Amino acid sequence: MKLVRAKDYKDMSRKAANFLSAQVILKENSVLGLATGGTSEGIYEQLVDWYRKGDIDFSMVSTVNLDEYVGLDGSNERSYRYYMEHHLFRHINIKERNCHLPDGMAGNLEEECRRYDRLIERLGGIDMQLLGVGENGHIGFNEPDEAFEQMTHCVWLKESTIDANARYFASREEVPRRAITMGIKAIMQARAIVLCASGKRKAGILKRVLCGPVTPEVPGSVLQMHPRLIVVADAEALGE
Ligand code: PGA
Repeated sequence: MKLVRAKDYKDMSRKAANFLSAQVILKENSVLGLATGGTSEGIYEQLVDWYRKGDIDFSMVSTVNLDEYVGLDGSNERSYRYYMEHHLFRHINIKERNCHLPDGMAGNLEEECRRYDRLIERLGGIDMQLLGVGENGHIGFNEPDEAFEQMTHCVWLKESTIDANARYFASREEVPRRAITMGIKAIMQARAIVLCASGKRKAGILKRVLCGPVTPEVPGSVLQMHPRLIVVADAEALGE
């Protein structure tokens, strides 16, 4: 594991963006695994800035996002498709057909999960996966459970996740209860992982993820087994 210490959120964002940028510069047709959430926003902002300055070319890049809410379509401002368009895709020269997220509106969710696994396989797997971590240890929407769920699957969100995500919705009741998430297998098969964390509220869980026992009750702890894990965290998140 490589640990990169950042001063604060802005510094974490730039340092994490450096790894993604280097990946795309070294391999122009990279497959990037992307994440949504507050942690990633500054990283995308930095990448857009470098794109505008002519430093990165996304024309041959493909992306696969970790997850999507069930029941929200891409035009819904709370959907992860919308988040990605808003924070990244529409600002860079990535091709629309190369930007992939699970379809939360799919009629047959089981079939959609299988499609997503086949897609990741067809792309040749993920070169670099960007990850945040939930306060309950989830990665993507792989929630604490009795076993690591390997394949893309549909989950019921934990109450703690609904609470954490309620800030993006008008009320807690509006937070979708279900989501589709990439499984642990595709994440762990990524050739490199960049795990990011910022702020005091991540300090406790980051310690359990990096130093605690590897257990599906803390899904992110599985990352300890990854041969190329890069952790970019700021001083507050590393506080414990
Ligand atoms: P956050 O979410 O970046 O908004 O803290 C991370 C996560 O829940 O995976």
